[in-house]
Amino acid sequence: MKFFVDTADVDAIRELNDLGMVDGVTTNPSLILKSGRDILEVTKEICGIVDGPVSAEVVALEADAMIAEGRKLAEIADNITVKVPLTWAGLKTCKVLSDEGRMVNVTLCFSANQALLAAKAGATFISPFIGRLDDINLDGMDLIQDIRTIYDNFGFETQILAASIRTVNHVTQSALIGADVITAPPSVIKSLASHPLTDKGLDAFMKDWAKTGQSIL
Ligand code: E4P
Repeated sequence: MKFFVDTADVDAIRELNDLGMVDGVTTNPSLILKSGRDILEVTKEICGIVDGPVSAEVVALEADAMIAEGRKLAEIADNITVKVPLTWAGLKTCKVLSDEGRMVNVTLCFSANQALLAAKAGATFISPFIGRLDDINLDGMDLIQDIRTIYDNFGFETQILAASIRTVNHVTQSALIGADVITAPPSVIKSLASHPLTDKGLDAFMKDWAKTGQSIL
């Protein structure tokens, strides 16, 4: 399973990328706002750090304008993935840009039927939002499972990019179901390394080691 990092914070991306933890990056208008930077400038910098796909989202709502924005974003670097919302205009944009050979990530997916449409429109990635479904008392993991089953039933090659990941459990469940990619904030990716028994065990080892009076170096 590939790990994408869901942020436009270049320092956080660089830190995780240096550890080999980053297979790609996803951004959205809210994350660009949070970065406080110009979208074209920060996206170009991210594309220079990471070899894998970097999602940059269009903001137009009509297809013609979305297509124009997508083409402009795609000029930033070869690893740009144009991110479009799951609307009819977004699906039309997906079809046009994917026919041009560009990578497209269809985002804001909340149903299996939406995911089916995105696959038929040639999406490279479909982004079902787990956390936002959990927020309204639905089970986001059920959606990931349904999309996995449907895509496998018909051999769709669109990759399932589990998004809106808020917890380490979302990552485990996505991996068990067989999502192709997860995208998560840096804090969630870092917390995958944490376990209280690791901390407890290390503490005990350090106390015993101190009692030996030895040193390795
Ligand atoms: C994914 O592409 C989105 O940018 C992101 O995962 C949304 O996450 P949120 O629901 O925590 O904002």
